[in-house]
Amino acid sequence: MEPDDNVCLCFRVSLRKLVNFMDRTRPTVPSQLSECLGAGTGCQWCVPFLRKIHQEWSDGKRPDLPVAPEEYAARRARYRATGERG
Ligand code: FES
Repeated sequence: MEPDDNVCLCFRVSLRKLVNFMDRTRPTVPSQLSECLGAGTGCQWCVPFLRKIHQEWSDGKRPDLPVAPEEYAARRARYRATGERG
């Protein structure tokens, strides 16, 4: 995933926006990422990924999601259709 790819597809919140938000506001828990344009408050698909991003950022790493945007979107579509994460 590149910085301008969206992590939260419901609200079109990119990885770059999330990282900038964390750098600016220093959230202590992942749920605070919802204050970044509502990330994670729609279908909930991205919530585990928001947790991972927050953990990596908290560990001083550069957050990354090693998945192609097309695959990520396809997995979300399956999640929305079936309720299962695959
Ligand atoms: S993709 Fe983030 S809430 Fe749906």
